Amino acid sequence: MTELTNHQLRLIARPTGAPSAEHFEATEEPARVPEDGELLLETVYASIDPAMRVWMNEDPGYVPPIPLGAVMRGGGIARVLQSRDEAFEVGDVVAARPGWQSHPTLPASEATKLDLGLGTIEDWAGPIGTTGLTAYFGIREVGAIQPGETVLVSGAAGAVGQMVGQIAKIEGCTVVGIAGGPEKCARLTEDLGFDAAIDYKAVDHLEAAIAGACPNGVDVFFDNVGGETLDAALANLRLKGRAVICGRISQTAAEELYGVKNLGVLIGKRARVEGFIVSDYADEFPEARRWISQRLREGELKQALHVVDGLERAPEALAMLFEGKNTGKLVVRVTDA
Ligand SMILES: NC(=O)c1ccc[n+]([C@@H]2O[C@H](COP(=O)([O-])OP(=O)(O)OC[C@H]3O[C@@H](n4cnc5c(N)ncnc54)[C@H](OP(=O)(O)O)[C@@H]3O)[C@@H](O)[C@H]2O)c1
Repeated sequence: MTELTNHQLRLIARPTGAPSAEHFEATEEPARVPEDGELLLETVYASIDPAMRVWMNEDPGYVPPIPLGAVMRGGGIARVLQSRDEAFEVGDVVAARPGWQSHPTLPASEATKLDLGLGTIEDWAGPIGTTGLTAYFGIREVGAIQPGETVLVSGAAGAVGQMVGQIAKIEGCTVVGIAGGPEKCARLTEDLGFDAAIDYKAVDHLEAAIAGACPNGVDVFFDNVGGETLDAALANLRLKGRAVICGRISQTAAEELYGVKNLGVLIGKRARVEGFIVSDYADEFPEARRWISQRLREGELKQALHVVDGLERAPEALAMLFEGKNTGKLVVRVTDA
């Protein structure tokens, strides 16, 4: 081959607040012919995740920063166009880290062939991909939910949050979601089976709103938001309650961090706060994917992708996460599935 052009978006400036188009530059170069052990890929979906904003920092903490001038880092689903590795064939669909580029050439060792018997490409981009696994392990293993318990989820209309609430319902819990806006809240209760939803943008006092929705207190708080939301939830924990710290998007792009005040509650309530990273559970991913896949087929679990079309719109899509403009798992469609 190949006359293919690899379209890219490179990080050219580090944001102080929310990310936007000015932090990226579009470039293109001929797609590179793969060498031994490499694959030429065509990106189908680029995953848009809150952590990408953290990777744009000079010191992201748990991973190296993205160098200025480099292609924006990111996960995604891609199709194999050329293979120089015997484990992959042309047409295979893989999960990889294509970043923001249309036709990357990557080491085959960094790609995982997807079993399309387990779910569609869209399922792999969403519920049986990383966000579904994050929800599954976060609420079941870290949250250790038990039937009959009350579960409170923040960021509940987002990719991880929607799955957390539905999994907790399957496990016999009462589930209350916190989300921004009446449409998102209606989707939680009317489409996804949540018992109640709190529109945090419409309440004056979140702590009191949680107390109203969870009159016996919260056994497990699954937190995607952090900051004041975490404080309000901690104040409502029951005896032996658990707060699962999955993310803190309210702080991810904040220029001034919020200091959590209610940690003292943990003493009298004998409660615990525990963070986790989904990759801690990598050995158990196959079993979790089978569990999720079966419930998707049976209609017990739902997750619609929120699709933004066109690689050039990836910066706009990333900003949407911080403006609450996505409902469910956000992806950019780079080429047709
Ligand atoms: N620990 C892990 O291994 C792991 C793995 C994957 C993801 N995560 C974390 O999980 C969280 C959710 O990720 P996701 O991919 O599912 O994103 P998401 O929830 O689909 O999207 C982000 C949502 O956060 C809400 N939000 C944004 N700014 C906010 C603010 N200031 N206050 C309150 N809510 C705000 C918005 O919803 P509203 O309209 O409701 O405001 C927005 O739609 C993130 O914090 C992410 O970093 C952790």
